[in-house]
Amino acid sequence: MSISLEAIVARHADRDGPLLPILHDVQAEIGAIDAGTETRIAHLLNLTRAEVHGVVSFYHDFKAQADPRPVVHICRAEACQARGIEAMMPAVAAAAGDRVRVETVYCLGLCSVGPNARIGDDLHARLDEGALTKLVERA
Ligand code: FES
Repeated sequence: MSISLEAIVARHADRDGPLLPILHDVQAEIGAIDAGTETRIAHLLNLTRAEVHGVVSFYHDFKAQADPRPVVHICRAEACQARGIEAMMPAVAAAAGDRVRVETVYCLGLCSVGPNARIGDDLHARLDEGALTKLVERA
């Protein structure tokens, strides 16, 4: 059984500026933040829907519809760029096809051992093109 929106909002009730952590939890635990969810969050936080939507639409991590595909986060920040990640991206896109969602992140905190990727909570370092495309194919 999934957690309710009200329970997520209550979890952050004592925080200053609870909107962003609530949105992250809703995305992670419910899978999407659609218009109805924005309205309910706005009501629970005594905000306007426009205020909630403004934050949701600013961050591309928030999705209006759930996407059931596996996600591979690939670091394309400077240190991983210097280690060749950009040259690997065409092969990554080919390996992903429409089955895997590839998302860019900017630093996974492993800069000295890049290029790096993350699937769920698992970090993968020292990736070359072959290792990275295998990772994407197996996601
Ligand atoms: S730049 Fe890629 S992990 Fe920091």
